[in-house]
Amino acid sequence: MSEKVVITDVGPRDGLQNQPKILSVEERLELVHAIAAAGVPQIEVGSFVSPRAVPAMAGTDQVFAALKASEFATPTIALIPNMKGYELARAAGAKSVTMVLYASDGMAQKNAAMTMAEAEVITLEILKLAKQDGIEVIATVAVVFECPFDGPTDPAVVEAIVAKFMAAGADQLVLADTIGAAHPQQVRELTAALVASHGAERLGCHFHDTRAMGLANVYAAVESGIRRFDSSIAGLGGCPFAPGASGNVATDDIAMMLQQMGFDTGIDLDRLMSASNLAQTLTGTAPGGRSKAWLQGYLAKQVG
Ligand code: COA
Ligand code: ZN
Repeated sequence: MSEKVVITDVGPRDGLQNQPKILSVEERLELVHAIAAAGVPQIEVGSFVSPRAVPAMAGTDQVFAALKASEFATPTIALIPNMKGYELARAAGAKSVTMVLYASDGMAQKNAAMTMAEAEVITLEILKLAKQDGIEVIATVAVVFECPFDGPTDPAVVEAIVAKFMAAGADQLVLADTIGAAHPQQVRELTAALVASHGAERLGCHFHDTRAMGLANVYAAVESGIRRFDSSIAGLGGCPFAPGASGNVATDDIAMMLQQMGFDTGIDLDRLMSASNLAQTLTGTAPGGRSKAWLQGYLAKQVG
């Protein structure tokens, strides 16, 4: 039996939040269904954030309602920036939330009008409530390698946040390279240290491909034992509050690479290409994975 890697497609949230074109709830649902049909095991389907701050995520409650009505079977996640987001996610029936923590005050301020310390206090409160509510909490630490406002991040800051929230009972901790500034050596060092202290089970990584190092960084994290990754269908993405951030590492590329390396992702690459094509058609801007042209030709030959 090959070893599992769990991919969470964050395209319908991280991807769509930064597109020039705002998709309708129906279009967002179509994309979520296409990603699920490809066997992606988890999908971040939207966020509960201020619709003034991120207009593309307005209506996430309707996305949840429609998924519930259709007895959608793939586990879904909602991103939240604060307590109001938690309350909205819970009311919408979310069973898993991603709460954002920060490795810099500059990013905390720009993204959520908080300090790092305030985000920590709120996350601890959310963890308590979520235990009672039966909701899973993924704590994603933003800008773990570099912040667009405050510069390079001290790994000791990230290690302290991870230790605190591992102890506080977060279901997972995700290390986010929000602007795609990391290189593989940094990734190897940070992930190896964290895996040594906490084990890999609850750790994940989230890379953006701004400097074409997304896949190399995934590989470095895999080498350290990380088995959970966020990625976006067709490489959609970017954070509206982090200047210079481009799309996430593409699910297309990461699924192909991990499968070729012998990992079990549960993803059907042929169907994933259909989801990737849909993402490109719906947005008009999704780049598509770098491997896509080759992969489509290869898959066509397999079938034919
Ligand atoms: N969802 C929806 N609305 C929210 C909200 C949430 N999670 N949190 C706050 N709001 C509303 C408030 O109710 C208030 O509405 P009102 O003016 O109609 O009363 C308004 O947003 C402003 O609230 P305030 O507390 O003053 O916040 P702010 O203006 O300082 O903005 C955030 C802070 C967090 C609400 C906003 O910056 C945000 O939504 N950021 C999310 C950023 C994001 O999604 N980044 C990408 C993912 S990491
Ligand atoms: Zn991101």
